[in-house]
Amino acid sequence: MAESPEGFLLAGLKIRGRLRLVSKTELQIGEVWDARTDGLPSELHPGVVHLWQLPLHASAEEVSAYYRLLSSEEQERALRFRVDRPRTEFVLTRGTLRTLLAQYLGSTPQEVQFRYELRGKPALEGESGLCFNVSHTDGLALMAFVMRRTIGIDVENMGRDVDAQRLAERFFSAREVKALKRLNREELRAAFFRCWTRKEAYIKAKGAGLSLPLHEFDVSIMRNETDALLATRPDPAESDRWMVCDVPVGPGYTAALAVRKDVA
Ligand SMILES: CC(C)(COP(=O)(O)OP(=O)(O)OC[C@H]1O[C@@H](n2cnc3c(N)ncnc32)[C@H](O)[C@@H]1OP(=O)(O)O)[C@@H](O)C(=O)NCCC(=O)NCCS
Repeated sequence: MAESPEGFLLAGLKIRGRLRLVSKTELQIGEVWDARTDGLPSELHPGVVHLWQLPLHASAEEVSAYYRLLSSEEQERALRFRVDRPRTEFVLTRGTLRTLLAQYLGSTPQEVQFRYELRGKPALEGESGLCFNVSHTDGLALMAFVMRRTIGIDVENMGRDVDAQRLAERFFSAREVKALKRLNREELRAAFFRCWTRKEAYIKAKGAGLSLPLHEFDVSIMRNETDALLATRPDPAESDRWMVCDVPVGPGYTAALAVRKDVA
């Protein structure tokens, strides 16, 4: 058994820094780093978003090492999963989140303390100003970190068998459904997941869960948008307060990020 889960997670000491400047905002979005192979997080400067992904496969030894990083409440939550795979994915994701947060904060993974907003969005206790959000889907977790800005992230496995047209008509806004209807069969699936992850990243940033009606805002379904939140209702000015864009993750996955443009 390995002595240190950080050894699995933070192999090497590489500090990286290539940044993508997002138009119309002062936000800079970093490339997506791999939490297993890409080393320690560098300092998180104001206005910069750090993104980390984690493939959710590990040996039993690694899983138990990560399990030991969790709080007793998190360990109890892990034990309540009846199926191995979601339990393993929760343990790896939460253990990695604790490890990365500890690196940013200069503490240990076990010392990281969470509080939970009304609808369950986790945030850090204390005054560090470090904000984050997490998403996990079959086989991949994605985490976003930024100073003093509200943030949300979503990743979906596109291998899932979905009836895109039916789900769009049920969940998306009239403008989004209309845009999707113009696409052919081949284009539809990718555009559906782009739309889904962009909407989900926004509702996760707001911490709103399904209390935010999905038809009250429109996102673009087009590729390579850096400002994908097109309209919000009833307050049209709300759309200008957010940057919603895609996150480049591996083949078979789609991901998006939403960050508030102004500082909290
Ligand atoms: C948590 C929620 C916001 C997202 O759930 P999800 O898509 O299944 O899960 P994700 O993997 O993207 O995110 C889960 C993580 O987000 C965080 N989270 C939990 N509640 C959250 C909230 N209210 N807001 C933001 N983040 C939240 C946690 O870190 C959680 O990880 P954990 O389960 O390991 O604790 C869910 O409550 C929800 O409301 N989903 C809406 C689903 C939907 O119909 N979307 C339609 C989009 S078009």
